[in-house]
Amino acid sequence: VSSEIASRDAAIEADATDPLASVRARFTLPDGVIYLDGNSLGALAASVSAAVDDAVNRQWGRDLITSWNDNDWWTLPARVGDRIGALIGAAPGQVLCGDSTSVQLFQALVGLARLRPGRTELITDGAGFPTDQYVAESVARLLGLTLRRITPPELPAVISDDTAVVALSAVDYRTGEYWDLPALTATAHAAGAVINWDLCHAAGALPVELDELGADAAVGCTYKYLNGGPGSPAWIYLPHRHQGPIELPLTGWHGHADPFGLAPSFTPAPGIEQARIGTPALLSMLALESALTVWDAVSLDDVRAKSLALTEMMIAFADRSLPSVEVVTPRPSERRGSQVALRMPYAYEACQALIARRVIGDFRAPDLLRLGIAPLYLTYRQVWDAMEVLRDVLESGAYRDPAHARGASAVT
Ligand SMILES: Cc1ncc(COP(=O)(O)O)c(C=O)c1O
Repeated sequence: VSSEIASRDAAIEADATDPLASVRARFTLPDGVIYLDGNSLGALAASVSAAVDDAVNRQWGRDLITSWNDNDWWTLPARVGDRIGALIGAAPGQVLCGDSTSVQLFQALVGLARLRPGRTELITDGAGFPTDQYVAESVARLLGLTLRRITPPELPAVISDDTAVVALSAVDYRTGEYWDLPALTATAHAAGAVINWDLCHAAGALPVELDELGADAAVGCTYKYLNGGPGSPAWIYLPHRHQGPIELPLTGWHGHADPFGLAPSFTPAPGIEQARIGTPALLSMLALESALTVWDAVSLDDVRAKSLALTEMMIAFADRSLPSVEVVTPRPSERRGSQVALRMPYAYEACQALIARRVIGDFRAPDLLRLGIAPLYLTYRQVWDAMEVLRDVLESGAYRDPAHARGASAVT
């Protein structure tokens, strides 16, 4: 359907029938900017400013410590967790919000490895996001496991009954490739291993059904497609079936069964509350809670349909009009996340030239221009116009302007 969007007029027509068109008004966006970096830092939901003001001035400033009960601070991590859970196919009581993705990855991988004692291997994606690889390295060292780095399609060939844990990301952060989650999860389980999914580039970008998938754990951030704001807290998913047996390594007092009993030894809280660690970043989490209300009126199927229509439109545009670039994002729609990555030797300079023209994408070393699609607040016309600006930057050679060379600007 969407490959028919081959002109600016067709893009404008697609906007006219876009079921998500009204959601854009729920964001505060700068005029004149086309923002293709919502896969790095999502936009500001309009409700957040008042929510933060309330959190600071009323809840903290006036109610002080009574807010733990009177303003429900204590129940916030699980409450926000359930809101996130609704977007990733997790029934209530299985997602807990807090800390960073890196911390939650450590928590998940050690907890999962302890479910498979005697097994000797941890498998991860050797092209995965750096933090995922670094945490996997550390967990392997800590637990005496061998770390094996693969590409996800190699999993069936390399997994064995030595494998304790498989740790993968749903969407490749560079290429935008969306892996086959059901097949890879089934492969892990057939070998008797457990699997963690990092959903940083999937949550809020496309429908994921964690319960249906039978994932053993999952983690993700909230500052990308969930628009939680800079440094907003991450989350962990632990399905009900593992909440009894799992032993999480980060045994902070908020995860204790009786946090105010002040016992000298740790007894985990029942259910998902055991995944709490220490005192949460309340202000950030209250901002996130408000940002997540945008999703109340949104269907993830509409998000996916618009995302695919836009990325198809971009790929077709690149094929037609950008002969010097290579589209590295997969063309089959079921293999594509919510971004388009274009390879060109001058990707850094082209990215800077785009930013100077108020089209914001990002650069991933060594040679990728990454254009993220956040369907909640992008229009078809904007994305079309961004591609036209890119064509102009490439055809005119504007990217060769010394102002766009590495080191010439503070913007990276
Ligand atoms: C797959 C993946 N994992 C983790 C992170 C970031 O981890 P943290 O939130 O701890 O900075 C990112 C950030 O882009 C990511 O893409």
